[in-house]
Amino acid sequence: MKILVVGSGAREHALCWAISASPICDELYCAPGNAGIAEEASCIDIAAEDLDGIVCFARKNAIDFVLVGPEAPLVAGLVDQLDAVGIKAFGPTAAAAQLEGSKSFTKEFCKRHSIPTAGFARFTELKLALDYVRGHTLPLVIKADGLAAGKGVTIAASVEEAESALVAALRDRVFGDAGAEVVIEEFMAGEEASFFALTDGVTIRPLVAVQDHKAVGDGDTGPNTGGMGAYSPAPVVDPAMASRIMAEIITPTIEGMAVEGRLFKGVLYAGLMITASGPQLIEYNVRFGDPECQVLVLRLASDLLPVLFACCDGQLRNVDLQWREDAALCVVMASNGYPGSYKTGTLIKGIDEALADRGVTIFHAATKRDGNNALLAMGGRVLGITATGVDIRAAQRRAYLAVERVDWPDGFCRSDIGWRAVARIGSE
Ligand code: AMP
Ligand code: GLY
Repeated sequence: MKILVVGSGAREHALCWAISASPICDELYCAPGNAGIAEEASCIDIAAEDLDGIVCFARKNAIDFVLVGPEAPLVAGLVDQLDAVGIKAFGPTAAAAQLEGSKSFTKEFCKRHSIPTAGFARFTELKLALDYVRGHTLPLVIKADGLAAGKGVTIAASVEEAESALVAALRDRVFGDAGAEVVIEEFMAGEEASFFALTDGVTIRPLVAVQDHKAVGDGDTGPNTGGMGAYSPAPVVDPAMASRIMAEIITPTIEGMAVEGRLFKGVLYAGLMITASGPQLIEYNVRFGDPECQVLVLRLASDLLPVLFACCDGQLRNVDLQWREDAALCVVMASNGYPGSYKTGTLIKGIDEALADRGVTIFHAATKRDGNNALLAMGGRVLGITATGVDIRAAQRRAYLAVERVDWPDGFCRSDIGWRAVARIGSE
């Protein structure tokens, strides 16, 4: 079969890595891909957001199946467009992708289906939003309604902070149309957890527990990023908590979407707060997490492709997901300065040395090769140094030994990925 993966991050590298190992994959393409992905797939110079370009390429090249990695093309309707020309594609339709595309949609949906989430109010007018903030207890959480590349959320501990977030979104339009409406939420206290499930719209298969670290600094401090590392298994979601999350959040969501005529197929990624009264939804994403996907593919023992097909074809009930016992952990290496501004075009060496350990896999996020085949960093998050081991501590040790072999003076990483899980092993 001829397969096309859409996207250019380490998540898409991990997906290409898993798909290229499948006996049913004959040819693999990636649009646009990166230097790491080029080792698994033929990279095509078409941006992930260029929907017409992707559909045109898929038709011309008789692509059998498309896997869409990032949220933007899903929210824009890439799966709908491929479906209209008879090409099977993994991921939700635009109508179903609203679970990530609009926070207001999701909050109202949760209300309609009694799915536990923080109380909220929606505003398009600055004055009304400011009045609301002045009349409520802080902290409050202020969110741009639409896609804001992970930057649209402010946890405001003071009225001044809330005001400046509201002014930025509603008056100064720093998020463009994505911030024309804001959602103001109650603050939930607890430990954050992620939960992933594959679905064909009816059958739901939860994935193994996996957790990322969003903050840039050690000890989960500093500004939020796309994710500085991830690990699995993740003890915060034990089997009892997983059952609660499925019963109280995931199942009512998939059922509610079907009832509302927005059948959700693909992977649903719930960001959760485990509060004293149980799991509450923070937000939904309609795609694999990055870097969570990198550790998931290393733990998956089943062939990924038939599982993805089953999600598209309403056949997930016939699929049994097999996982490896080994733990997996991914350390993200990012350009110095990330998530603020950073240099691009910096030289990375030592990748082969880091890969000398067979338990290590390196997924590229933003890399390219120059005319002399040297590897250059071209973005914020650049490499996902991913290792397996008998437990999280072993995987962590192995990942950091590989990190030490990467020679990249312009890059950095956190030194404590997996610390919560390792601390729990230590205390057992
Ligand atoms: P989101 O983009 O909605 O996932 O929000 C980004 C981050 O802000 C989350 O990962 C949480 O750490 C935090 N957050 C969002 N909403 C809330 C809330 N209602 N209460 C507490 N923290 C929140
Ligand atoms: N790791 C967070 C995300 O993929 O959104």
